[in-house]
Amino acid sequence: MELLKERIRRDGIVKEGNVLKVDSFLNHQMDIELLNEIGREFKRLFSHCPVTKILTIEASGIGIACIAAQYFGVPVVFAKKTQSVNIDGEVYSTKIQSFTHKKVYDVIVSKKFLGPEDHVLIIDDFLANGCALEGLTELVASAGAVIEGIGIVIEKGFQQGGDLIRGKGLRLESLAIVDGMDAATGEVIFR
Ligand code: G4P
Ligand code: NA
Ligand code: NA
Repeated sequence: MELLKERIRRDGIVKEGNVLKVDSFLNHQMDIELLNEIGREFKRLFSHCPVTKILTIEASGIGIACIAAQYFGVPVVFAKKTQSVNIDGEVYSTKIQSFTHKKVYDVIVSKKFLGPEDHVLIIDDFLANGCALEGLTELVASAGAVIEGIGIVIEKGFQQGGDLIRGKGLRLESLAIVDGMDAATGEVIFR
């Protein structure tokens, strides 16, 4: 998506350790006009899919998912990160390892909001190692629901997540794929 790539080139900040900061328009302050175009693009890419729910994970995915959901006319469910998994059987749960934050989260979705009748579009802001997405796909599998596709705003193509997900035969659409970054020059190389 050219508009997004232009914005990343202009306002993205390359940090040491291959981290791309997009705080000024996506991850902290949010540019709603841009998010509207992102939502429209996800709808275009997944227009033939019978999506009944959009699934994301807190926190950064929520705003993006909500705006995209307006184009699909479906609810958003966000997986919650929690310290304490309740064991009453009312939730689907899985563990997600975060390499960036060096810890493991339990994530849950209530059984009330995802079930075997659902066709799910998963949306998230970043795809790096794919741990978050793997967790989300596990939650969908636990629910017996169908994954129609996965929409990512920024994929870090030099990390393993994209290959992992595509290798499972899932339809993954990333609006910008970053193949390299240079913290010294600030340059971002797109696929
Ligand atoms: P993975 O889920 O793809 O394996 O990613 P990883 O564990 O490495 O990333 C952990 C968190 O950092 C995720 O957010 C992910 O979206 C984010 N992230 C990864 N690489 C970058 C990057 O280059 N730039 C930015 N801005 N974020 C990155 P999270 O833990 O879900 O936190 P939240 O921000 O959604 O609350
Ligand atoms: Na995220
Ligand atoms: Na994030």
